[in-house]
Amino acid sequence: METKLKSVANSTAWTNLQAHYEKVKGLQMRDLFAQDGERGEKMVLDAVGIYLDYSKHVVTDETLNLLLQLAKDCGLKKHIDAMFAGEKINITEKRAVLHTALRAPQTASIMVDGENVVTAVHAVLDKMSDFCERVRSGEWKGFSGKRIRNIVNVGIGGSDLGPVMAYEALRSYSDRNLNFRFVSNVDGTDFAEATRDLDAAETLFVISSKTFITLETMTNAHSARDWLLKTFSDEKAIARHFVAVSTNAEEVTKFGIDTANMFEFWDWVGGRYSMESAIGLSTMLAVGPDNFREMLNGFHEMDEHFRQAPFEKNLPVLMGLLTIWYNNFFQAQTVAVLPYEQYLKRFPAYLQQLTMESNGKHVTLDGAVVDYSTGPIFWGEPGTNGQHSFYQLIHQGTKLIPCDFIAFVEALNPLGRHHDLLMANVFAQTEALAFGKTAEQVKAEGTADWLVPHRTFEGNRPSNTLLLEKLTPSALGKLVALYEHSVFTQGAIWNIDSFDQWGVELGKVLAQRIVPELESKSEPDLKHDSSTNALIRRYRKLKTH
Ligand code: F6P
Repeated sequence: METKLKSVANSTAWTNLQAHYEKVKGLQMRDLFAQDGERGEKMVLDAVGIYLDYSKHVVTDETLNLLLQLAKDCGLKKHIDAMFAGEKINITEKRAVLHTALRAPQTASIMVDGENVVTAVHAVLDKMSDFCERVRSGEWKGFSGKRIRNIVNVGIGGSDLGPVMAYEALRSYSDRNLNFRFVSNVDGTDFAEATRDLDAAETLFVISSKTFITLETMTNAHSARDWLLKTFSDEKAIARHFVAVSTNAEEVTKFGIDTANMFEFWDWVGGRYSMESAIGLSTMLAVGPDNFREMLNGFHEMDEHFRQAPFEKNLPVLMGLLTIWYNNFFQAQTVAVLPYEQYLKRFPAYLQQLTMESNGKHVTLDGAVVDYSTGPIFWGEPGTNGQHSFYQLIHQGTKLIPCDFIAFVEALNPLGRHHDLLMANVFAQTEALAFGKTAEQVKAEGTADWLVPHRTFEGNRPSNTLLLEKLTPSALGKLVALYEHSVFTQGAIWNIDSFDQWGVELGKVLAQRIVPELESKSEPDLKHDSSTNALIRRYRKLKTH
């Protein structure tokens, strides 16, 4: 009973939205645009260098007002202020959530447990800058005196997805004399393929792990150490070829990395919110300290926008609310993220951790089971590739899939007509999704009657279009922060802890239990279910190593 009373789904704002949904669910975008010739110019937000067109949605002014009311009633402003102030809003881990402090200017003051964390942030940034300059200039030498040419980031989850996404996104700003690799999977193939053509004497490993105890990362880090020592057979080489990024100095020392070569961050930085902390060391090595700081400035601009802009003009708030609209009222299960920019090819993968590890929760902050759907599934591929793969289902399938189209006015590699063709596809796709093609139109083209249903597009498929000028480090920072805060907005409304990740624990514990059962020489006494027992027995029987 108590759960029901407290549930946001029982609130006036939510029930008003539900009643409104029943009225507007049948509206057609075709009609909405016909009724208001300026809809496409009105339902846009142009802020901090991002133009968001949200006109191609099944929403009216009233929908937006009701969604904004929901945000207000849920105390979103209070939640935002609490996060920025360093309150321990990650309640299950009793931690502050202060990725915004990582991009705050040096003059800012943000107190956590009586300390201004901005001072520490900038001290680490300076240490990173100094190190990166030395590696990039060739001053930092490997053990045999050769300069570093290869950088291998070893990490997983937030200690990999952010670095690899940012490296790919900012490749055009990177030092092409340096070769970057990213190893994450405990599958030995990942390490083997990443290092097979590298000269150990020219290779630097960046071991990135917040905890420095993650099984995958530590296994890969030990393999990296063995690999290096095959060339040097002298432990002293480690200091020239390994640096660590972590919050755990004790484990870093245990591994054998001098803490002088450790770049610190803090427990108030969540793994999936860490790409602009020292976890971004590989990014800074690639693009240099100035570009890295420009990226931080982009993040900060979006932070300030999120903190200060009124909700109706607030990009992350609006995007978050639209996600709620489809997720909770239309019962859409997924969101497709479709960057029309090849350099953003890893952006959807990055967003999967950001969005789904954050909002894939089934209980509220009070521990009550939610009676509404939380985080949608995020997925996507860069355009135009997706068009020749899964767009068919988005256009004509039976599932409603809101899409985010992300595009840039300026090409980083202008080549003949390529960019106009790319952009034409962005605009065409959002147009086709929204307006489709009626049976009458298809018939009027002379299509045979039997074929008409197959060639008809219902339309009314919603999308955001995010248009930016150019993919710069600052633009990347803004985009990432936009999604971070949109996720925050959703989490605040669903009343969940968007900053813990207990759901990844059980599998880790069970794997640790199974490892000795796979490795033991004698037949183990298996006490799992019959399926798991049989799989383990079969593996043991057939394995050759
Ligand atoms: O998968 C769980 C998780 O804790 C993520 O949240 C995190 O990004 C990842 O593991 C890696 O953790 P660490 O940086 O401590 O190695």
